[in-house]
Amino acid sequence: MKNLNISIAGLGNVGSAVVNVIEDNSSYWEKKTNLSLNIIGLSAKNINQERSFDIKKYKWVETPIDLLNINDLKPDILIELIGYEKDISYDLVKSALNNKIHVVTGNKAMLALHGQELFKIAEKNKVSLLFEAAVAGGIPIIKTLKNNIFLNKIKKISGILNGTTNYILTTMELQNKSFNDVLEDAKQKGFTSDHESKLDIGGYDAAHKLTLLSSIAYGGEIDFNLNEIEGIQNITIEDINFVKQLGFRIKLISETRVIDNKIYSSTKPKLISLDKPLANANNALNAINIVTDQLQNLYLEGEGAGGLPTASSILSDVFEIANNVDVRSIGYNTDQLTRYEKFDSSNIESKFYLRIRVIDQSGVLSKITSYLNEYNISVEKILQIPDSKENNIPILITTHKIKTSELLNSVKKIGELEFVDQNISIIPIE
Ligand SMILES: NC(=O)c1ccc[n+]([C@@H]2O[C@H](COP(=O)([O-])OP(=O)(O)OC[C@H]3O[C@@H](n4cnc5c(N)ncnc54)[C@H](OP(=O)(O)O)[C@@H]3O)[C@@H](O)[C@H]2O)c1
Repeated sequence: MKNLNISIAGLGNVGSAVVNVIEDNSSYWEKKTNLSLNIIGLSAKNINQERSFDIKKYKWVETPIDLLNINDLKPDILIELIGYEKDISYDLVKSALNNKIHVVTGNKAMLALHGQELFKIAEKNKVSLLFEAAVAGGIPIIKTLKNNIFLNKIKKISGILNGTTNYILTTMELQNKSFNDVLEDAKQKGFTSDHESKLDIGGYDAAHKLTLLSSIAYGGEIDFNLNEIEGIQNITIEDINFVKQLGFRIKLISETRVIDNKIYSSTKPKLISLDKPLANANNALNAINIVTDQLQNLYLEGEGAGGLPTASSILSDVFEIANNVDVRSIGYNTDQLTRYEKFDSSNIESKFYLRIRVIDQSGVLSKITSYLNEYNISVEKILQIPDSKENNIPILITTHKIKTSELLNSVKKIGELEFVDQNISIIPIE
């Protein structure tokens, strides 16, 4: 029987679930794996906080850093589940690695911003820094990329990496409610907080995760600055309903690929055709498409958040360390990683959806189409939606593939027309 000593920092949603799962399953695992997990210390902010397990059964330490040495006993693995981008999370993980202690974490913000340094420290000290839980909760995407399809040439990864925004977009559609109303509901129900919602809604949380996926897929240095980020705060219920009439659903899509030897990593709202699985990954689900030279489309979908699904990923990393597999934490030696430049997104070609509100008068449509023609924008569909309530009516346009910069130039001209409302929606179509 192999015995592993574990310390856990952070006992919130995920940390508590990890303790619960270890308590519930240890004898089952011992039979299945010959592995015994021994929690030698715990730490969180407030000892008096009610927990889902009996805290008295464990050694509590006031300061998380003391988890690295409990009565002269060094843990084999530190599990970091506090979640700060720097501060105590970073200090703790860095100290653990420097003390030759393996680390398992779900902290994508810390890794997207400081991973390059932390993975180097892990490598120097010959320990692992594993992070399956940091991307897409319970979906085993890191191990899939790092192990199963590591020898494939990855052409593109795209998907839904943030559950909160997916829940908000789904609820807006189902309940026909505005973005602000659904966000307020989600906060009141405790699904998200003010701080978390800024990262979620602004697209930053998804971009943190995409940074890690892109690095493994393309062997690039971890560089958050390569991301182009747009959140869902400007998505209106009007657009959600209109695009449905056109056969689409709006999703916050993160995508990474290499173009002209540069990285294009983008997180932004996109229209997905209703017949595609991604369009039907609703509520808090996460979903990822991977296209490689050998796989036309590997599609993974599942619970992207929540205590238990995320604990499943944390424990898969613990098991990987227990197996003594000599895996490089990020798949590569850090000195093999390439420093990529960022691809200029104005050169990206895409189909687009436009929603232009205009004053209902004759000649409007022909003026708009003449500006589109001037910039060689070929229209796939154009719809003028009658709106009996207002004199201001929406025109919906979907285009064929066009360079983003050309579309923006023509939309700028259209926006200057006196009968056009300046708030034109422009959303790329996946
Ligand atoms: N929740 C998810 O579904 C999910 C999914 C994937 C990844 N993750 C990642 O997993 C990590 C943990 O997430 P979570 O949802 O479990 O967070 P959480 O519920 O907010 O828990 C955070 C824990 O950290 C403790 N803590 C906060 N400040 C501390 C300090 N200064 N010193 C010591 N402990 C401190 C808190 O203590 P108290 O309990 O005493 O307040 C709490 O136990 C984050 O990196 C998150 O991004 C979460």
